[in-house]
Amino acid sequence: MRTKKNIYILAIESSCDDTSAAVLCNDTILSNVIANQEIHQKYGGVVPELASRAHQQNIVPVVQQALAQANIDKKQLDAIAFTRGPGLMGSLLVGTSFATTFAMSLEIPLIAVNHMQAHILVHFISSKEKRDNKPINKPSFPFICLTISGGHTQIVKVNSYFDFEILGETLDDAAGEAFDKSAKILGLTYPGGPLIDKYAQNGDPNKYQFPKPKTKNKLDFSFSGFKTAVIRFVKKNVKENPNFIKENLNNICASIQNGIVSILIDKLKATVEQTGITQIAIAGGVSANSEIRKRLKDTEKHFGWQTFIPPFEYTTDNAAMIGITGYLKFIHNAFNNSTNLANARLKVDE
Ligand code: KG4
Ligand code: ZN
Repeated sequence: MRTKKNIYILAIESSCDDTSAAVLCNDTILSNVIANQEIHQKYGGVVPELASRAHQQNIVPVVQQALAQANIDKKQLDAIAFTRGPGLMGSLLVGTSFATTFAMSLEIPLIAVNHMQAHILVHFISSKEKRDNKPINKPSFPFICLTISGGHTQIVKVNSYFDFEILGETLDDAAGEAFDKSAKILGLTYPGGPLIDKYAQNGDPNKYQFPKPKTKNKLDFSFSGFKTAVIRFVKKNVKENPNFIKENLNNICASIQNGIVSILIDKLKATVEQTGITQIAIAGGVSANSEIRKRLKDTEKHFGWQTFIPPFEYTTDNAAMIGITGYLKFIHNAFNNSTNLANARLKVDE
């Protein structure tokens, strides 16, 4: 392990539609700047070419802002961490080229980070926050992480900072896609997950029922049947009553959210049964969802699990998560400059 007292890392995330830069001092976040790309809203999903162009416009000001907010001069940096994959190739290349060039000009190491590992490792960011008046604990190894985002849904056994085992994953759509595609048919803008969450607050979660798909491996997921059932249900009811969505939006959203979250919690129960591990974390954009956060917390009382729920700002894509992963790799000398090529299909265990 390296022992220099303070290590400063600049981290860059550009895998999808958010351009983000963060500065860390060891495992503490000094700044975490995120530029969202609103351009995609009107298209109902991320348009890769537009995302890449927006990253090119945003990356320099976002990095400058992150350094300024952290009050750190670029000459103080010890390393630059960046997202190598998975993600959209055109988006990844913007971050990769920027990070490579910047690290070369400063003559400091470059650390390639796997975006899916980074979502999980947010649980190791140092925090002064308290939960139930106690300092927030970090998970110990091995623990289970349910990573739920717009592109992925996985149950991962985390054996160490650098050893990840996929126990189950989605065979088709991701949980975030199930939220976003259900939202789209309801006429809500992209990304629809947070809007479903918002309208669900005032709805009846048991008003409508949607199917729970079965999978051969009990820990795999399938959301395409769920999505199709929601689309059919909405179309059928709108045909009968053109005002159906408007009149029932809260109940529809609450029922969709309840359906998706119930599937996720059931899979976690099956994972605990199969592995005997009761330290359970969640990560990724969908872990911002209020219902999964509440239902997971309830398992502490009901089943004695120890749960780890990330602060909101580290749920959706952000560079702080790339920074903490970069820091952990840096202090353990676990990085290798020959594997810095962007890789759109990188797996969590690679
Ligand atoms: O991790 P993330 O920012 O990007 C990917 O790596 O995909 O996740 C984005 C996903 C989107 O599908 C978005 O709708 C979903 O996270 N999301 C939510 C909530 N906030 C974000 N889904 C449900 N409820 C939320 N509150
Ligand atoms: Zn992500």
